[in-house]
Amino acid sequence: MSAHYDAIVLGAGAAGLMCAARAGQRGKRVLVLEKADKPGKKILISGGGRCNFTNLGTGPANYLSANPHFAKSALARYTSRDFLTLVERYDIAWHEKTLGQLFCDGSAKQIVAMLLDECAKRDVTVRCGEEVASVTQDGGFTVTTQGGTYRADALVIATGGPSIPKMGASGFAYDLARQFGLKVVEPRPALVPLTLGGDEVLFREISGVATPVVASAGKGTFPEAALFTHRGLSGPAILQVSSYWKPGDAVAIDFLPDVSGDWLIDAKRDTPRATLRSILRDHLPDRLADILDERIGLPTELGNAPDKLLRAAQERLKRWTFHPNGTEGFAKAEVTIGGISTTELSSKTMEAKRVPGLHVIGEAVDVTGWLGGYNFQWAWASGVAAGDAL
Ligand code: FDA
Repeated sequence: MSAHYDAIVLGAGAAGLMCAARAGQRGKRVLVLEKADKPGKKILISGGGRCNFTNLGTGPANYLSANPHFAKSALARYTSRDFLTLVERYDIAWHEKTLGQLFCDGSAKQIVAMLLDECAKRDVTVRCGEEVASVTQDGGFTVTTQGGTYRADALVIATGGPSIPKMGASGFAYDLARQFGLKVVEPRPALVPLTLGGDEVLFREISGVATPVVASAGKGTFPEAALFTHRGLSGPAILQVSSYWKPGDAVAIDFLPDVSGDWLIDAKRDTPRATLRSILRDHLPDRLADILDERIGLPTELGNAPDKLLRAAQERLKRWTFHPNGTEGFAKAEVTIGGISTTELSSKTMEAKRVPGLHVIGEAVDVTGWLGGYNFQWAWASGVAAGDAL
């Protein structure tokens, strides 16, 4: 079988479906090829099945990239409000959970159904079970799958990144990009739990304990919950800083974000018979309070402790330093940092500067959002940027 299209989109994920629908709206003949048995699998599992489909506060500052300016153009031209307008047109009920994060009241299936409907209305063909085996360029692009051979004037790489390989995710986009001579910024797992080793494994004993903290690594600082796990650290604050963390870096945690100043000295004055453990138990889950108290090792009641020791304890609790020995890897990473270099692409059209007709969108590109709906917003915005240019 050989058929000719204006554009072939590789991957029926968030970015690919959005791109195909937009190109279809402009009268383009579009084919989407998807290797899985159904489209939008990551959308379906996202946000605990409710899809955190955007974030009202989306701006370029919420993204990591070797070029922090690259995402500006696409994000400005297709905003979270634009996506919300689409969601509301489909009468999909939604709510803001926290920090501008919008979720479906019902199910992530509604988002996939909406995108597929947008494609169907424009006669976009979506073919599942079509794993792309090879792509060649000869004036246009020829794509071969086990199902057939397809030709198009333009090609869009929307095959995502390698996070969650058990769902079929792979570095296919990077291989294809390299085939066309495009540079790839080394991919690494992001929004991923961190693992602890050495004597920090003791914290694994409190697996399941969560508490609000302010976590920092590199240039990232996030006030959200941290969770201790049987392998190390997780929870939203840790997932966020994992994107800024590199092997060898420390992660600093403020366990008492709501207290400041000389609060332990004040406690010594007000309650001299109290212990550090009892004071910590007022602020933190008991098991966490106990392990922090053990590690600080204040030998006596507050009333008998020298101010110098109390100040040192205060400072340690405000900036507790962990030294993760790794991450839980792509197997547990929500997204991938790095990817096809933005230096290769037009920020307006997502087209490869050196390969006319070839576009790259979504997670395959070296643009990675924070946790909280930012990654889908990038998928929608980059999909629109390419779809409107095909
Ligand atoms: P995506 O991975 O969605 O799609 C790529 C598609 O290409 C897939 O369908 C894949 O099967 C297909 N493909 C790959 N290789 C192929 C080949 N050789 N031939 C044909 N097809 C091929 N983000 C967010 O903003 N809010 C959230 O709530 C969540 N929640 C969340 C939960 C979990 C568990 C994960 C793993 C991730 C999230 N994310 C998220 C991140 C979000 O899912 C991610 O950023 C987007 O899905 C990226 O969209 P893309 O379309 O770029 O790739």
